[in-house]
Amino acid sequence: MSAPAYKIIDHTYDTVVVGAGGSGLRATMGSAEAGLRTACITKVFPTRSHTVAAQGGIAASLKNNTPDHWTWHMYDTVKGSDWLGDQDAIEYMVREAPAAVYELEHAGVPFSRNADGTIYQRPFGGHMQNMGEGPPVQRTCAAADRTGHAMLHALYQQSLKYAADFFIEYFAIDLIMENGKCVGVIALCMDDGTIHRFRAQAVVLATGGYGRCYFTATSAHTCTGDGGGMVLRAGLPLQDMEFVQFHPTGIYGAGVLITEGARGEGGYLTNSEGERFMERYAPSAKDLASRDVVSRSMAMEIREGRGVGPHKDHIYLHLDHIDPKVLAERLPGITESGKIFAGVDLTRQPLPVVPTVHYNMGGIPTNYHGEVMTIGPDGNPETVVPGLFAVGEAACVSVHGANRLGSNSLIDLVVFGRATGHRLKELLTPEAKQPELPKDSADLALTRLDHFRHAKGGSSTAEIRTEMQRTMSLHAAVFRTDELMVEGKEKLAQTYQRMNDISVSDRGLIWNSDLVETMELDNLISQATVTLHSAQNRKESRGAHAHEDFPNRDDAEWMKHTATWFNGWGGKGGEVRIDYRPVHEYTLTDDVEYIKPKARVY
Ligand code: FUM
Repeated sequence: MSAPAYKIIDHTYDTVVVGAGGSGLRATMGSAEAGLRTACITKVFPTRSHTVAAQGGIAASLKNNTPDHWTWHMYDTVKGSDWLGDQDAIEYMVREAPAAVYELEHAGVPFSRNADGTIYQRPFGGHMQNMGEGPPVQRTCAAADRTGHAMLHALYQQSLKYAADFFIEYFAIDLIMENGKCVGVIALCMDDGTIHRFRAQAVVLATGGYGRCYFTATSAHTCTGDGGGMVLRAGLPLQDMEFVQFHPTGIYGAGVLITEGARGEGGYLTNSEGERFMERYAPSAKDLASRDVVSRSMAMEIREGRGVGPHKDHIYLHLDHIDPKVLAERLPGITESGKIFAGVDLTRQPLPVVPTVHYNMGGIPTNYHGEVMTIGPDGNPETVVPGLFAVGEAACVSVHGANRLGSNSLIDLVVFGRATGHRLKELLTPEAKQPELPKDSADLALTRLDHFRHAKGGSSTAEIRTEMQRTMSLHAAVFRTDELMVEGKEKLAQTYQRMNDISVSDRGLIWNSDLVETMELDNLISQATVTLHSAQNRKESRGAHAHEDFPNRDDAEWMKHTATWFNGWGGKGGEVRIDYRPVHEYTLTDDVEYIKPKARVY
């Protein structure tokens, strides 16, 4: 098929970062600071990226409010990951965390303060003292309950200080790959409909998660996993896609996030009998157990008929016993959200909440330098894809393994955004002469764009998207069975076939949201498909993957990362191929020993 004729505007940079959330901005800063010509392409204005929604805080062992140590943070993260996290990457993250937080402080993040002027730190789920043996640790550095918002503004302001070029409201369509190397990216300027080809020594995907393949999620509507979709179309695998995190406290009905910081400040959950049921499931950590444990416990209560409300399908979160002054100072955002989205005055009434899709532990496999990894033709699982990097929720480093601890996401963004900047500085030569791009460099992107732009089928994008979201919500939920997942795979394959019958009504290129949403749906559905296939394939329960037919963790067979390929564009049928990468059962330095697997109880 010859590519349709579109006028292309060409650019050459050393680094192109796709995405301007916390990790994208930090990588942009690092690259520009290293003297590399740097472009940042983003589909929303940087301060509207999804990092803005992060509430409770960022984890680092500063020991401002309780004793702490980076080895304790490492232990909690490994245990939280249910031993699927790579311990070299985890060691790197927790050791770099304090410096990364101080860097943010100096960049202008208005952290909440203790009386002595130090950064205020609150308890968060699964973060404990003394290698899991002690009481909860206060490790999560907070700017009230608007930490992500504060970070994003500071990082964007800092980025402007460096000579990075921002391409705002540009939608990245596809990577340009040549002989297994990434050499650029094609994007659509949504504002004027022009097509842009970016040639680069390195492309950094910082495109966030794909939470919007579910019907209800705390993720913004922009969280359509565009980087993951591009990677799958480039013939590369995604990793550990079966691990989808449900946050215990999404507002019932609205899906809006209520920070875990609410329980960190003393909030607790009750069932229809008024019982604080977490005491039964996690006798030690209780409401501050890790997210997978709390979400499953809530689902069990609902399933056994002890949910609250007329349909007994949710749970209450209580903050009504907390001093209203503390709520106003430390949790002002969720106090407002409770009022707006549930009509509840948190100082007097419990808030209806339910586990809600929140985060993707899986994503684009990388090492701790941000370099994208694949399984090479020789079977080497540590093969680096030249020219391609990924950071943030789009990536799977893997520090979160099968379950991420709350507040480890914001630290992941800045630590690995910064690490990527360091690696780019090591690998790239500023303004190095780059080879001409291959003749067909824009074919994949333009053929897809043109195909969807002129699609005249019988199904709207919204109909197909809703069908996919309902399937995911029903068949890849907190608890999964083989039967449910097999049925889900079949339904999703049929929905994927409907993509051949899609209809786009706007044929223009200027602010064609119908077209952009269709390309986003194409990104989502490939990732939804590999999620269900990976989930049905993993015959054990680990972290967020609760397989009812295989209720136990099986380290002998399953302590390995799933790698999934999707054969899905240009008339292909959406077949999935699965292989595995070993978990790194080693640390980065001799300062700490590999933490051996054991039973995970809170
Ligand atoms: O609960 C929260 O504030 C969310 C934090 C996170 O996902 O890390």
